Amino acid sequence: AEYTMILTEMQGRVAVIRLNRPKALNALCDQLMEELGQALRGYDADPGVAAIVITGSEKAFAAGADIKEMQSRTYPAVYLDDFIGKRWEAVTYVQKPVIAAVAGYALGGGCELAMMCDMIIAAETAKFGQPEINLGVIPGAGGTQRLTRAIGKAKAMDLVLTARMMDANEAERSGLVARIVPAADVVAEAVKIGEKIASLSAPAVAMAKEAVNRAFETTLAEGVKFERRAFQALFSTEDQKEGMAAFAEKRPPAFRNR
Ligand code: HXC
Repeated sequence: AEYTMILTEMQGRVAVIRLNRPKALNALCDQLMEELGQALRGYDADPGVAAIVITGSEKAFAAGADIKEMQSRTYPAVYLDDFIGKRWEAVTYVQKPVIAAVAGYALGGGCELAMMCDMIIAAETAKFGQPEINLGVIPGAGGTQRLTRAIGKAKAMDLVLTARMMDANEAERSGLVARIVPAADVVAEAVKIGEKIASLSAPAVAMAKEAVNRAFETTLAEGVKFERRAFQALFSTEDQKEGMAAFAEKRPPAFRNR
């Protein structure tokens, strides 16, 4: 596919999508989100891809939705266009693990996009925030919900009501971020995680992701029941037999994704 606002490359079995509108700090306009969605759907359908990394530039993962594009929109227009629904939710429909490698600003829709990913790896330079209140609006791509679930009410209110940014250390302490690495290593670290995932059983990986995500969608009792069924179902895979035989035989497993 021909993209103008993202760059894509394969690193082994890990797809890397780089948001690439440097002059606008990767402001997430409709065109960029269309391209991102198209790339994500393509990689999700490609059996050669085990995991996907989304990253930005050194200065910005993304500084939010495109304010200049949104500026003159009206309620009927955003309602009929389902702004932001159909263009923004693509990442939440991906079955494979999606890792955000965040350096610099992840603000507004940029923070929300990172939170739609399965895991956030942060550079020491990362800055997270939901500054929409400064613009007379509120987060619109899940920020009030995902941030609150990730870091709790106290800090979510602090960020959403004051537009304050938090740095990588605070984000890690608060549970938003899985790991912090030096800025120069953030993509490599995310790819390394993707490569580890690529060595595992794809059905187990997809079920693990689905099960953890269930924790955000349902009660503990329902989530535990879902997990149990998924766990039991994995005993129908060849990979379960292989993984357990390899352990018993003290050798590395050779998963075949079936
Ligand atoms: C459009 C943006 C932009 C954005 C930056 N730019 N963020 N354009 N939408 N969200 C543009 C600037 O206009 C400028 O263009 C260029 O990128 C560089 O930005 P500067 O402001 O000059 O850089 P700097 O002084 O380093 O400040 C960086 C910054 C600041 C602190 C990140 O740009 C900023 O506050 N940006 C807006 C952050 C924000 O409010 N995000 C939430 C958006 S609302 P020119 O042409 O002047 O060089 C949102 C809603 C999501 O995300 C809801 C779901 C869709």
